[in-house]
Amino acid sequence: MIIDSHAHYTDEQFTEDLEQVFARCQTAGIEKICNVSYNLSSIDETIRLMEKYDFIYGMLGIHPSDSAPLTEELLASIARKLSLPKVVAVGEIGLDYHWDTPDRDTQKKWFRAQMEMARTANLPVDIHSRDACADTLEILREFPDVTGIIHCYSYSKESARDFLNLGYAFGIGGVVTYKNAAKLKEAVEYIPMDCILLETDCPYLAPVPNRGKRNESSNIPYIIEEIARIKGMDVATVEQTCYENTKRILHIP
Ligand code: NI
Repeated sequence: MIIDSHAHYTDEQFTEDLEQVFARCQTAGIEKICNVSYNLSSIDETIRLMEKYDFIYGMLGIHPSDSAPLTEELLASIARKLSLPKVVAVGEIGLDYHWDTPDRDTQKKWFRAQMEMARTANLPVDIHSRDACADTLEILREFPDVTGIIHCYSYSKESARDFLNLGYAFGIGGVVTYKNAAKLKEAVEYIPMDCILLETDCPYLAPVPNRGKRNESSNIPYIIEEIARIKGMDVATVEQTCYENTKRILHIP
């Protein structure tokens, strides 16, 4: 069985055929899906999906690139929603210095505020970190009693050790199947198997052989195959271990 630990089914690319997509996912062995929010409207849409579908779990939070409109009042309204059933993490939160907007101080302010929110709610976090490895590690270190997942891990094997030392696990998705992803393949080889979770980040980052197309959770078996190849393990073991990791880290029954 497979859990997709990071998907965006509230994206408008899924409005026309969501039922068919979910039917394909079920056929492909996808048991549960964590739908991740990134702005205020996607938080409410994620809650609606969670309420409609048994197999959908939710992560609630504001992506760094969408953090400019945040206020203390809005944050308090998100914090109240964290106690809803099937909310498994605060996310996606973090730092994005690739797009680099809003300014870094604004991103850091709301990253810290949402780490504090996760600490208070006693929930794990789902971290988005792009071109911001050192600052991400610095802020995570300020919250030693919070852990979670580094989503779509993209840094080196050496940095993976730093995140491991802080108790974090790693979301591995379609990028691991790309020919030019040598650094990520090296990191995956290094990361202990009990710290790897499967994810799509769909509709983005479809694995080979569907690279460039709209992604969906039914593509996860391609990611499993590549992780199994890198680690010299059989696919059944990779699938089962990632399944257990996800349930343990996100407290999914
Ligand atoms: Ni995402």
